[in-house]
Amino acid sequence: MEFYPIKVLHLDKSVEDSVAITLDIPESLKSTFSFKAGQFLTLQAQINGEAIRRSYSLFSSPLDEKWQVGIKKIPGGIFSNFACDNLKVGDTLDVAPPDGKFTIPMQAETKRTIAAFAAGSGITPMVSLIKTFLITEPETNIKLFYTNKRVKTTMLKEALEALKNQFMERLEINYFLTQERREIAFYNGRIDNKKLDQIFSMNGGPSQLDEYFICGPEAMIFQIRDYLTDAGIDEKNIHFELFFSGDANKEVLQELSTANLGKQSKLTIVEGGKEFTIDVNTGSGNVLDYALDKGADLPYACKGGVCCTCRAKLVNGEVKMLKTFGLEQEEIDNNYILTCQAIPLSDELRVDFDMG
Ligand SMILES: Cc1cc2nc3c(=O)[nH]c(=O)nc-3n(C[C@H](O)[C@H](O)[C@H](O)COP(=O)(O)OP(=O)(O)OC[C@H]3O[C@@H](n4cnc5c(N)ncnc54)[C@H](O)[C@@H]3O)c2cc1C
Ligand code: FES
Repeated sequence: MEFYPIKVLHLDKSVEDSVAITLDIPESLKSTFSFKAGQFLTLQAQINGEAIRRSYSLFSSPLDEKWQVGIKKIPGGIFSNFACDNLKVGDTLDVAPPDGKFTIPMQAETKRTIAAFAAGSGITPMVSLIKTFLITEPETNIKLFYTNKRVKTTMLKEALEALKNQFMERLEINYFLTQERREIAFYNGRIDNKKLDQIFSMNGGPSQLDEYFICGPEAMIFQIRDYLTDAGIDEKNIHFELFFSGDANKEVLQELSTANLGKQSKLTIVEGGKEFTIDVNTGSGNVLDYALDKGADLPYACKGGVCCTCRAKLVNGEVKMLKTFGLEQEEIDNNYILTCQAIPLSDELRVDFDMG
């Protein structure tokens, strides 16, 4: 995975517990860093002597020729606290080029209505998508439903208000707060099924909207997705980006390691035209970590099964996949795996990152 040293051009800390970072992509790297609205960058920094990398969605639009990410502090979080508290203008971060599938093609002649559901830092890819849709598709309308704890922690409100002023007729923004009260009861609290009923009764039902984008905590994403699929919305029109997913099921891990106690697998890793084979424990550990431990330079970011950076093809052998959020069903059917989630199960396995 190739990282480039990129300088921090500007920092905006005006919103409590978050920072908006503008990166100074040099002219010579602008094509390498070209992106689609909704994509993310992987940032890496040396924090307490360790290289820590995390993914951050770009909130700027590709039409702006700017590279901006917004980071919200996670209590105890290594990278987010470093970015909010220690990063300075002029510092250099290692940045990998844009990636991600939280986007759809945009065409000037397309006229559609889009619903965007965001909570907390989940607003970042939405701002990029909203701006790019509104400019690229002059007849498209967008309805945003954006939940935060408090007004002071609402990220990118200024950018949203500027878009609202520019596209008054085509952008509707609904702000919900969970830890402060607003006068209209509807805007208090999370988006639950009751609120979704209210939202859709005002909009003629879910089928009146053409595309759905969802980004926020795992529970919110799946609750809205399930509501929509139960209402008959085709999954191909529901797009979501998961930033984080809780720990894998400990019982499954325990069962696998007990059932395979003492067994070894021969794991062959193919990357950059080279390959090597290592002996690993069957039923425990994951393909990515085993290969990284041997010094392989492999692509990864979240190690949590959400960013999809560690995707590779299982050419032969069997693995147990703990999470598959980032993969389409078609990819799973074609033996693509998230190596950070793949526990070796067969005696021999061959995993090809060049086919990822
Ligand atoms: C594709 C993608 C795009 C992303 N875009 C953004 C973005 O635009 N802005 C942004 O702020 N973040 C974004 N994230 C999340 C980001 O990559 C980090 O996970 C987050 O900043 C926490 O990292 P950390 O090092 O501070 O916390 P860590 O040190 O990794 O974690 C500390 C603790 O918090 C828990 N945790 C980690 N992440 C979260 C989370 N998101 N919510 C709740 N608990 C968590 C962990 O289990 C751990 O216990 C994105 C993630 C992905 C996969
Ligand atoms: S490193 Fe993110 S899904 Fe594996």
